[in-house]
Amino acid sequence: LAGLGAASVVAGMTGWFVDAGLPLRGGRLSPADTGEPLRQPDVAVGRDGILSLRLAVAAGVRLAGLDTSAWGYNGTSPGPTLRVRPGDLLRLQLVNQLGQPTNLHTHGLKVSPQADGDNPFIAIEPGAGFDYEIRIPSDHPPGTFWYHPHHHGTVADQIFAGLAGALLVEDDLDLAVTSDRVLLVTDTTLDAGGHVVPADAMARMQGREGELVLVNGQHEPVVTASAGSAERWRVINACVSRVLALRLDGHRLTQIALDGRFLAAPVDRDQVVLAPGNRADVIVRPTASGRFALFAAPYDRGSATMMGGMGATGGPRGPATLATLIVTGSTGTPPPLPTALPAPTEPQGPVTGQRRLTLAMGMDAGMRMGMGMGFTIDGRTFDPGRDDQIVTPGTTEEWTVLNTSPMDHPFHLHGWPFHVVDTNVLTPPATTLQDVVLVRAYGQVSLRIPFTGHSGRSVYHCHILDHEDLGMMGTVNVRG
Ligand code: C2O
Ligand code: CU
Ligand code: CU
Repeated sequence: LAGLGAASVVAGMTGWFVDAGLPLRGGRLSPADTGEPLRQPDVAVGRDGILSLRLAVAAGVRLAGLDTSAWGYNGTSPGPTLRVRPGDLLRLQLVNQLGQPTNLHTHGLKVSPQADGDNPFIAIEPGAGFDYEIRIPSDHPPGTFWYHPHHHGTVADQIFAGLAGALLVEDDLDLAVTSDRVLLVTDTTLDAGGHVVPADAMARMQGREGELVLVNGQHEPVVTASAGSAERWRVINACVSRVLALRLDGHRLTQIALDGRFLAAPVDRDQVVLAPGNRADVIVRPTASGRFALFAAPYDRGSATMMGGMGATGGPRGPATLATLIVTGSTGTPPPLPTALPAPTEPQGPVTGQRRLTLAMGMDAGMRMGMGMGFTIDGRTFDPGRDDQIVTPGTTEEWTVLNTSPMDHPFHLHGWPFHVVDTNVLTPPATTLQDVVLVRAYGQVSLRIPFTGHSGRSVYHCHILDHEDLGMMGTVNVRG
């Protein structure tokens, strides 16, 4: 699982043309828990304004009903669900029991990236620990967030190995739901011995997709609900690269939140598209009994190679079944939904800065130097020591993110969620702030970003985490 060397990129690219002739790698593990009731991860709740928790990162968890050498937090994948309230202090003691450095990122929280906060530049060496102190502002919007490692170069490997967990900021809204569940979706590939199969160079360029799609570490679990009830599902796309075009047979999904923030009003959708890193809170309101598949419909996110359309790694992926909803009782009328929701209102000053960022992928710069395919932002790969954007605290900026490549890239900014004000696709932008937006192949998006709340230095990157590890990441320094 070492960082990808330049030489292997070139070897991988050659491999693309001979791949079809290679023997299949060993056997694969078959899931042993298909159809079991969906479980919730353990929950850790704060007390008196503080959530203090020791999180040990180590190998050896159950996945898909099997003992594996995949990785988890406190022995489980996903790790415990952290439940905090606005104003709480999140005190996490991360203990690294892996054989490689790791760290922790609280994805989507609008919290300080400085020092022992949500700092993506920290490396916790094997055998070492680190005490995070993350203060949730008292005006922080309630919603669905998540945590995962962010050690540059190995982020994709570590999440693919099982490291992810839910982080909920609780609300006082009464949605009259019968159940409120986390559905944290991951994908991975396990060999016959229960080891996570690493991705080769080509899979990294395409963005790896695992053969097993899991919900809360389970394979195709079952959710049972009665007709006339209402379920709140907090769906987290924790897959390294897979876009989830979420559908539920026989039902529309009523979306109430995106990326941990309420929409202005509930929206009924046939399909909710979640890029890696995105979350959606949906209300499911079954009215009649039956069995219904929750699945990810085929989605074409383009390909890193010109040959992509012809090979196994190009074209639409999926479908993948995530879970089954079993509705009992003959009929019933679910409780009504509120017509308006408490979407956060960010103070929006005048736009004082405009920037253009270009996501590129290609054989240009890197290839000419014999270094394989380059994954760049503004022509450069990630350098933690370089300030790529310097922003004045408290200002609002408009960033246009341009994608010059034949593949979608989910653009993510830490610590300062944004309004999408324009996409060059037909879907209208969401009525709330978000923290990951899919920038379609050869497309562009415009974002309005209030750099409010805190200052400090953090990162933006492609949330196809293989791309991030290959360098598609930049730094933003918000400082006076
Ligand atoms: Cu979900 Cu920088 O990450
Ligand atoms: Cu993040
Ligand atoms: Cu990308």
